[in-house]
Amino acid sequence: MLLNLLLGPDPALLGTDAMSASPFSLLPAASTNAQELDNIYVAVTLICALSFVLLIGAQVYFMVKYKKPAEGHRKTSPITHSGKLEFWWSFIPTLILIALFVWGETLYMKMVTPPSDAVNIRVTGQKWFWTVEYPDVPGAILTDELIVPKDVPVRLTLTSNDVIHSFYVPVFRQKKDAVPGRYSNLWFQATTVGTYPLFCTEYCGDQHSTMIGKVHVVERAEFDARLAEAAKLEPGEGESMADFGARVFDRGGCAACHSIDGSAKTGPTLKGKYGAQEVLSDGSTVTIDDNYIRESILEPNAKVVQGFTPQMPSFAGRFDDRAITGLIEYIKSLK
Ligand code: CUA
Repeated sequence: MLLNLLLGPDPALLGTDAMSASPFSLLPAASTNAQELDNIYVAVTLICALSFVLLIGAQVYFMVKYKKPAEGHRKTSPITHSGKLEFWWSFIPTLILIALFVWGETLYMKMVTPPSDAVNIRVTGQKWFWTVEYPDVPGAILTDELIVPKDVPVRLTLTSNDVIHSFYVPVFRQKKDAVPGRYSNLWFQATTVGTYPLFCTEYCGDQHSTMIGKVHVVERAEFDARLAEAAKLEPGEGESMADFGARVFDRGGCAACHSIDGSAKTGPTLKGKYGAQEVLSDGSTVTIDDNYIRESILEPNAKVVQGFTPQMPSFAGRFDDRAITGLIEYIKSLK
């Protein structure tokens, strides 16, 4: 139980590799900066441990040595001071602190200055998922999935559509707030192929704890192939519109708010809804047909179902007509 708490969420639930087998080991490091950051962290910890032993050791030693005799009136010898000793115990720690400052500052400047040849990726937080866009590959938009090439510097531009979220990838030792109305940057260069968790670390509402994504570090060739695949959101050979719609549903991150099993999440379930009557927040009723679904995707807050709050983002510009048709067919198939 305690071990589970220390180790954090079960990797099986996140769908990623285990982060660590022991609460006493550092998390795996999968970026160039992470390795260097760990070095400074370990160095500071060791220096602190050494100072602790020296200081507390001396304290205990003197406590025993100069203990007041139980029965006696031995006078303490007159206390004087040693200029030499005082100089050295000030000078040496000062040197250590200056060295730590220079080391930390150099690394910090490196961590906040993206190289000019970095791959640009835009990451947007919203309740309660991450949208990842690749400006260099038109149409490549992912949800809760960040694909990055190995050994290539990557610069993320973060923002938010609603409240403050915080983008955190432990294996990269990178964390930055995604703030509405503002862009912030972070960069990293991944070193190890694998799948790692991506968390939101700013409390952003009741589904905050579900705002978990995956980071895939892949070889450059696979990176290009997967982005090309992601960019073409169109029905495949022999694929039914409903199956295509299921892929659109998955790609759009719709499942973050809409269940397909009848349970209500942030938004209403989509199961058995096609053709049904729905009561809206203003008390009127609407039949769920093709036009209502289309409107709800493009202008989600025009007709909000009673009991739910208007907080769905518009997917205008994100889904073309064919994708919307696919979604309609998919919702139709959810009996
Ligand atoms: Cu987004 Cu917490």
